[in-house]
Amino acid sequence: MFDEKFLEQCVAKIKVTTLENEDVEVVNESPLEMLGKGRQGAVYTVTPDICVKVFGNQEDCDREYYALSLGQHTDLFPKVYHKGPLHIAMEIIRGVDLREYLQSQPLSKSLSVKLIDMLITFKEIGYERIDHHKRQIYLQKDGSLKVIDVARTVWRDRVYPYPRKLLNSLGQDNKEVFLTHVQELAPTLYQEWLHYIRMEELSQEIYQLIMEEDASKTETVKAMSHKLLTREDEERYVVLMYGLMHKVFKEQWIRTMIAKGVDPNEILEAIDEYWDEQKREFKELEAGGGDRKNQPPRELTKEEKKEQLRQEKLRAKKEKEKQRLERIRARRENREKNKKGKAQPVDKKGKKADKQGKDKNKKAEKKSKDNKEKKQNKSGLKKGYSSWWTFGLA
Ligand SMILES: Nc1ncnc2c1ncn2[C@@H]1O[C@H](COP(=O)(O)OP(=O)(O)OP(=O)(O)O)[C@@H](O)[C@H]1O
Ligand SMILES: [Mg+2]
Repeated sequence: MFDEKFLEQCVAKIKVTTLENEDVEVVNESPLEMLGKGRQGAVYTVTPDICVKVFGNQEDCDREYYALSLGQHTDLFPKVYHKGPLHIAMEIIRGVDLREYLQSQPLSKSLSVKLIDMLITFKEIGYERIDHHKRQIYLQKDGSLKVIDVARTVWRDRVYPYPRKLLNSLGQDNKEVFLTHVQELAPTLYQEWLHYIRMEELSQEIYQLIMEEDASKTETVKAMSHKLLTREDEERYVVLMYGLMHKVFKEQWIRTMIAKGVDPNEILEAIDEYWDEQKREFKELEAGGGDRKNQPPRELTKEEKKEQLRQEKLRAKKEKEKQRLERIRARRENREKNKKGKAQPVDKKGKKADKQGKDKNKKAEKKSKDNKEKKQNKSGLKKGYSSWWTFGLA
C-alpha cells in the first residue's frame, strides 16, 4: 500500500517541536508536503490516500494511536496503517469540515442526528471525553461524518459531562438550533445537558462573586484575624492544649489498637476514663502540690466548670449510645436464636419476656462488666502511658 521504509526515512527528516499554546514548530527536510498542523503535530501527505502525522512528543502520539484504535471497527475515524514512536500513518480524510460547511449551509435536523450518533459512538467505544470541535469533524460526499485529531478523548481525569466544545464551537445561533433538535429528538438528554449548562453558568457567577468579595474582605480579615488567636489567655490556652493532647493521644492509641487487631470501640471508654483521671490529678497538682489532701478543694474556674459539664454530657451521651447498642445486640442475638426455634421474644427495649430472659440479661450484664475489666487491662493505659501524659504537659 505504501513503502514503510520510505516513510521511516522521511519521518526521520522531519523535526517537530511542541510549543506552549501554539502550533508546533517544524523543520522538514523530507520531500513530503504538509497537509496541516496543530499544537500536537504536523501532518504530511505520503500517498494520495495516506498521510503521516508527526508528533512533538511520544505521549501525544501514543494517546492518539490508542484513541484511533478504539474506533477502527467503526466508519468514524481514519484507518491506521502504521505507528512509530513519534508518528502515525493514517487514511487521508477528504470532504469538508463542519466549520466550513456551516458557513454556507444550515444545521439541519438530519445533521444533528448524525452528530448525536457520533457522540453515541464515542461513548460506546470508550472515549472519556465525548466532545469534539467542529473543525475536526468532516462531512463526506455521501453525507457521513469522519473525525480526526482524537488524542484528547482518552486518558483524562476530568471532562465536561456534556459536549461543551462541540456546542460552543457551533456558535450561538447554531448552538441553539442544535439544542432545539436535541430537545425534540432526545428530551431527557436535552434536560441533562441543560442542567450542566446551568450549573456551569451558576459556577461562573459564583466565581465572579467570590472574586469581588475577595477584594473587599481582604482588609477586614487582616484587621479582625486576631479574634481567632488563642494563646493570649493563659488559662484558656491550657484548656485548649489539653484538648489537643487528648485528641492526638486518642487518635494514635486507636491506630495502635487497630494495628493490633483490637476493636477500637472497646477501648474508647477506657481512654476517656484514663484521661479524666489524669486531668483530675493534674488539676489537683496544680492547685495544691504534694500536700493537697490536707487542703480544702479549690473553687473551679468558669472554664473548668464548663469543661466539667461538657465531659458529663459526653459521658451521658456515650452511656446512652452504649445502652442502645446493647439493646440492638440483644435483639439481634434473640432473632438469631428465634430462627433456630430456641429463644423467647424480646420487647423493643431488649427486655426478655420471662424469667429465663431476665436470667440471660443478668448474664449479659455480668459479661459486659467482665468485658469492661478486660478492656482496662487490654488498653494498658494505667501502666504504659503516664509518661506520655507527662511529656504532653511538659
Ligand atoms: N487524517 C487526516 N486527513 C486529512 N487531513 C488531516 C488528517 N489529520 C490531520 N489533518 C490535517 O492536519 C491538521 C492538523 O491535524 P490535527 O488537528 O490532528 O493536529 P493537532 O496538532 O493534533 O491539532 P490540535 O492542536 O487541535 O490538537 C488538521 O487540521 C487537518 O487539516
Ligand atoms: Mg490533537
